[in-house]
Amino acid sequence: MNKVCKIGFLGMGTVAGGVWKHLWENREEMRRRFGCDFELSKVCVRDVSKPRDVPVPAELLTSNPLDVVDDPDIDVVCELMGGVDEAYKLTMRAFENGKSVVTANKALLCHRGGELFAAARKADCGYFFEASVAGGIPIIKIIREGLIANRFSRIYGILNGTCNYILTRMEREGASYEAILADAKKLGYVEQDESLDVDGFDTAHKAAVLAYIAHGKWVPLEDMIIEGIRSVTLDDMLWARDFDYRIKLVANIECDFASRKLSVRVYPALLPLSGIVSNVNGVFNAVAIDGDVVGESVFVGRGAGREATASAVISDIADAAKRLRGAPDLEFKSDDMGLSMASLKDMPGNFYMRFCVRDEAGILAQITSLFAEAGVSIEQLKQSKRAGDDRAHIVLTTHKTNEQSIEKLKSSLAETSALCGEPFVLRIFKK
Ligand code: NAP
Ligand code: HSE
Repeated sequence: MNKVCKIGFLGMGTVAGGVWKHLWENREEMRRRFGCDFELSKVCVRDVSKPRDVPVPAELLTSNPLDVVDDPDIDVVCELMGGVDEAYKLTMRAFENGKSVVTANKALLCHRGGELFAAARKADCGYFFEASVAGGIPIIKIIREGLIANRFSRIYGILNGTCNYILTRMEREGASYEAILADAKKLGYVEQDESLDVDGFDTAHKAAVLAYIAHGKWVPLEDMIIEGIRSVTLDDMLWARDFDYRIKLVANIECDFASRKLSVRVYPALLPLSGIVSNVNGVFNAVAIDGDVVGESVFVGRGAGREATASAVISDIADAAKRLRGAPDLEFKSDDMGLSMASLKDMPGNFYMRFCVRDEAGILAQITSLFAEAGVSIEQLKQSKRAGDDRAHIVLTTHKTNEQSIEKLKSSLAETSALCGEPFVLRIFKK
């Protein structure tokens, strides 16, 4: 056997705890699979006195992250602490000190990935990030290695386990959003800042990583559409069912190779009930890939939680250990493919809309004239009444239109006195 690979941890929370547990409990078998000996060295946490549910010897714990990134004996740093600024500084310092880094930190990659990958290359260090997207699905390896023959016109799917868990249980049980979110926290699915999950940013961070590995371009959040699930109601889910759809939080990365335009969008969308992705429920993620050689492939697996994420991190640690033994790095796609960002306001699509109106003669005529003015054609429309409510509830789907026309329509609807409140709009995901 070669040199012992020494592994240091920044963080020992949900994910790192799973990594530690499996490496520790199965160390002999893991050594055999890694093809090298390894040692679990230092562990940095915020609070060294906090009880841990994994057997980390007290003498390995520190609250000073420099004890990990500056330790000359440590070969591989697992950055599993989260956050952006501190994690960025420590990762840079680890590279300066010649260490490879394994991370699950998609927020950090999205915000600072360009600089970090450049620094890793300059310092001749590995930077591994399998766990940053889609939990236990080895989607980074799938795209970079398994599907190397392909160009990707579309990569879409469910990239946030927390949101899928919430939407699934809302739809199945009618349980309250708050109660389900509390359960998701107990299960270790939710980010330290829960708004990253429910407001769509975590999905956007992951979409940025996928866009980078697929197309060699870091897309900033400002160039994406990002919407979360907070405003989706159980009624929307039931209406969607009526129209043969299910609502999921979707990331959609499209590349038109003819015009060389790339777009990245994250939004709750109505997906056809007959598709694979709409039937992926609970904490599971699904990534559907349209490759020009392979055609469409869909990958499904647990998208969050200790064990699934640990599986991906351990695969990266094995790669980092192989690199120490001289395995070459994979090349990234470079940013010279001449792609520019598509104009988001011109993106075509079908939409779902719900609003309430005063239940009076002529109101629908008023509303439909606004649709005509905006050039938006209605495909299906349903109206319902509720006991004790003198308003009429309208839900509809549109024929193909575009973002700009829908925005214009929303503004003119919001201005008319026929509506009680603002219209609520979701996109319909069609192939
Ligand atoms: P977590 O349970 O909150 O654990 C974070 C760990 O980092 C804790 O041990 C904490 O110490 C330590 N820590 C945080 N800030 C620190 C600082 N400034 N100095 C020293 N230690 C610090 O988080 P997690 O769920 O494991 O997530 C870790 C990373 O994995 C994040 O980037 C997250 O986005 C990503 N991720 C999570 C999942 C998931 O399902 N949870 C899945 C994929 C990716 P204490 O224990 O003392 O508080
Ligand atoms: N909070 C994230 C999610 C963790 O729920 O998907 C996995 O990245």
